[in-house]
Amino acid sequence: MAERPLSDRPSPARLRLGVNIDHVATIRNARGGDHPDPVRAAEIVAAVGGDGITAHLREDRRHIRDSDLARIQSATGLPLNLEMAATDEMLAIALAHAPHAACIVPEKREERTTEGGLDAAGQHNRLAPIVSRLTDAGIRVSLFIEAEERQIEAALRLGAPVVEFHTGEYAHAHLDGDRERTARELKRLTDMAALAAKNGIEPHAGHGLTYENVTPVAAIPQLAELNIGHYLIGEAVFVGLENAVRRMRELMDEAR
Ligand code: PXP
Repeated sequence: MAERPLSDRPSPARLRLGVNIDHVATIRNARGGDHPDPVRAAEIVAAVGGDGITAHLREDRRHIRDSDLARIQSATGLPLNLEMAATDEMLAIALAHAPHAACIVPEKREERTTEGGLDAAGQHNRLAPIVSRLTDAGIRVSLFIEAEERQIEAALRLGAPVVEFHTGEYAHAHLDGDRERTARELKRLTDMAALAAKNGIEPHAGHGLTYENVTPVAAIPQLAELNIGHYLIGEAVFVGLENAVRRMRELMDEAR
């Protein structure tokens, strides 16, 4: 099935949920076979009303593999948001697969997950040709940045239509039970979502979001999309992926 055309997608006023299925592949790869198949997870996400599938093809292929991409794209009809490092190899793969969106993320080999935002301000010259090649191919470019003014300005200079704010600091503060830091991080996300939207950039958010911390983020009115992975796949072990996605969807809807 082809990806759903933009005109058929729900109105932007609804906060979209992109489900990151990387960690289904992490479990699969632990045994080297084909089970559990991330494509089956994508089908479940589609069946319960998820708005998109997010997948990060890392340089070391520790979870999603090249061969998963086309299978994910053809299985569900949901838009694919390909997370990718700003490398020539990943650019070629993105151009070959033409996903709906490409989210450029920083990537370090030794990190466990994407531990901070992309320095769009400091890497303009590296990013500019990649953003324009993706854009010319009709791929919606997103930059995974910290919620900071200088990074939004850099996204504007690069002509990126979307930024995704890294919510890791907010999630850590919440986990530590540090109310002051949590409130400070939330204000930063709120202010920067407003700034991005005012400048015509669509703000998204993701990383470390859970049932416990998602509500205040989902309530930020300018945010158009949340991308959530690790927690949902973890919950799926206990309640099934259908129920985990449905519960997250409910919390997001209640927040608006
Ligand atoms: N958005 C981006 C750009 C990411 O890199 C990740 C992590 O791969 C996520 C969202 C999802 O984060 P988590 O797995 O912590 O929910």
